[in-house]
Amino acid sequence: MASSEGNKLWGGRFVGNIDPIMEKFNASIAYDQRMWQADIKGSKAYVKALQKAGLVTEDEMKQILTGLDKVFDEWSKGDFRIKDGDEDIHTANERRLKEIIGDPAGKLHTGRSRNDQVATDMRLWLRDAIITLKEQTLQLINTMVERAAVEIDILFPGYTHTQRAQPIRWSHWILSHAVALSRDVERLEDIRKRTNVMPLGSGAIAGNPFNIDRELLRKELDFDGISINSMDATGQRDFVAEFLFWGSMCLTHLSKMAEDLILYNTKEFSFITLSDAYSTGSSLMPQKKNADSLELIRSKAGRVFGRCAGFLMTLKGLPSSYNKDLQEDKEAMFDCFDTVHAVLQVTTGVISTLEVNQKSMEGALSPDMLATDLAYHLVRKGMPFREAHSCAGKAVYIAETKKVPLNQLTVEDLQTASPLFDADISSVWDYSSSVEQYSAPGGTAKNSVIAQIEHFRAWIKAQKH
Ligand code: ARG
Repeated sequence: MASSEGNKLWGGRFVGNIDPIMEKFNASIAYDQRMWQADIKGSKAYVKALQKAGLVTEDEMKQILTGLDKVFDEWSKGDFRIKDGDEDIHTANERRLKEIIGDPAGKLHTGRSRNDQVATDMRLWLRDAIITLKEQTLQLINTMVERAAVEIDILFPGYTHTQRAQPIRWSHWILSHAVALSRDVERLEDIRKRTNVMPLGSGAIAGNPFNIDRELLRKELDFDGISINSMDATGQRDFVAEFLFWGSMCLTHLSKMAEDLILYNTKEFSFITLSDAYSTGSSLMPQKKNADSLELIRSKAGRVFGRCAGFLMTLKGLPSSYNKDLQEDKEAMFDCFDTVHAVLQVTTGVISTLEVNQKSMEGALSPDMLATDLAYHLVRKGMPFREAHSCAGKAVYIAETKKVPLNQLTVEDLQTASPLFDADISSVWDYSSSVEQYSAPGGTAKNSVIAQIEHFRAWIKAQKH
């Protein structure tokens, strides 16, 4: 027989052969075999519920459980052989179970459908994947926070609109990205809760006709709760869409950080030097050391968002309950996981090995970045801020016309901008005291940055419980 419809789980009503091209088009085994472990776990729980409901005997249950353990062993040793006609992981495992234990295998699928089975497997798989990603994100945050603690005294220019804005601490920059990642961890935890709901026992659409004990299944599989409607449970993939959005958001954060570092790593900025371990050369220009790691980190947000947008397009317009379109969920979910997994590891490596060029960073600070401070100086003498802003602006204008740096203006020059300026203005021209004035919580003053570091240390501990 050219194709294997004779062995198919659903072969009964078919007389003709399946077109081999259609068979390949229909199959998901090439990628859903990643869920072999979840699939076996789900089946082991299910057979226990079948036994409790009196649908298999104690002896049949034992045979099925032993057989499933054997299938498990084959997968873990890499001995499992996928055969022609193994449409997906569910059919492959059941086919193998039948080969091992014979007839009782035929009872395993009683009242179950691949519709509730696949949704269960995916949730089991994603639940573990989320734990892995959460740990990795925490590791990255921890690396950033400890780096911020060590390098707290380094100052450099802060930019808005990619224009020199105000002096800030390098640690303040690092922590700004750590905060974004901490939101990602919290979002992940939120998604985990909605993912950890069990669809098993929903059948194909209508539910389970054998009064299966779903609470027993829930406990066996360690789900937080059970789905409340069988049509919804088998026909929705919100948890996948949420995960894809999560990946898109997390990688968007890392893309922003990578873009900053790409700029800082250029000869023009020279704020940081990327480690050789995360750089590559040019096949043509011998002098080149490219920040490929950072460029790839920056790129991956696009890839994962593409998965997210693509999958939402698949969902949009589907009628309710299971449709084969939903099979598209898996490659998107796996690719999102693999991509974020790799990016988090590389980013942790990049951050922990890059070198900071303190001299270049501090050398890049310039008096014009203290123009705001000039205005604040007048505010502290009682002038309304709008007026102070205008006086400081005049001082900037005078410095520009005289072609001198702002801090080289004489008191007389400054007094043409405002009579309130006097000799104590010299105290303004100090970058350290400039950053120290931002001492309100969340600011770049040393104590405020220390408070951020302490906040993160406690927060990281709480995440690990
Ligand atoms: N391989 C399928 C998927 O991934 C399993 C569910 C198939 N269900 C069905 N009624 N054909 O979605």
